[in-house]
Amino acid sequence: MILDDKNFTKYLNRHEIDAAVQNIANRINADYEGQSVVLVGVLKGAIVFMADLVRHLKMDVEVEFVRLSSYGKARTSSGTVTILKDIQADIRGKHVLIVEEIIDSGRTLKFLYERLKQSGPVSVEIVTLLDKSSKRVVDVPVKYVGRTIEDQFLVGYGLDLEERCRNLPDVYYLKYPN
Ligand code: IMP
Ligand code: MG
Repeated sequence: MILDDKNFTKYLNRHEIDAAVQNIANRINADYEGQSVVLVGVLKGAIVFMADLVRHLKMDVEVEFVRLSSYGKARTSSGTVTILKDIQADIRGKHVLIVEEIIDSGRTLKFLYERLKQSGPVSVEIVTLLDKSSKRVVDVPVKYVGRTIEDQFLVGYGLDLEERCRNLPDVYYLKYPN
């Protein structure tokens, strides 16, 4: 198993992740009390965070997903974003929350944010569990952040290394990513 490799070190344990998810949920519950919200999860990485987050939310929610391609199997952003799967819901007149597990350059999010805004929602905000804010190359308004983190390649809790490791309940970093 890949985790036998001593290059993997635990970065956030499941209790720290839970606390970050709960904290985000509390803020969203306060900000959208009595309203309904469309959550747009970014496949595939956001699935685990989305599953945990929705169970803490108290308002009416719809759950949608998009799949975007920008990285492929590379570990750094290619900068080009294409839509592989779009949302099905009509978001006109609705509050939208984009749900990401991690933001790096911000290119993926910027693209999705601008595109969703064109469909006439009342509001679009961005939620991310992890934010590598020092890596940002495009300006994108991120309202809800679980943790601001250093520039490290992370796996687990939805985050993958070439499609592996998404199932790990904790988050690990690669000591020697190359
Ligand atoms: P951005 O467009 O550069 O912000 O890239 C965001 C996407 O890259 C995320 O949704 C992840 O799928 C992926 N990504 C960024 N950093 C990591 C990481 O450390 N591990 C795994 N995937 C990552
Ligand atoms: Mg990924």
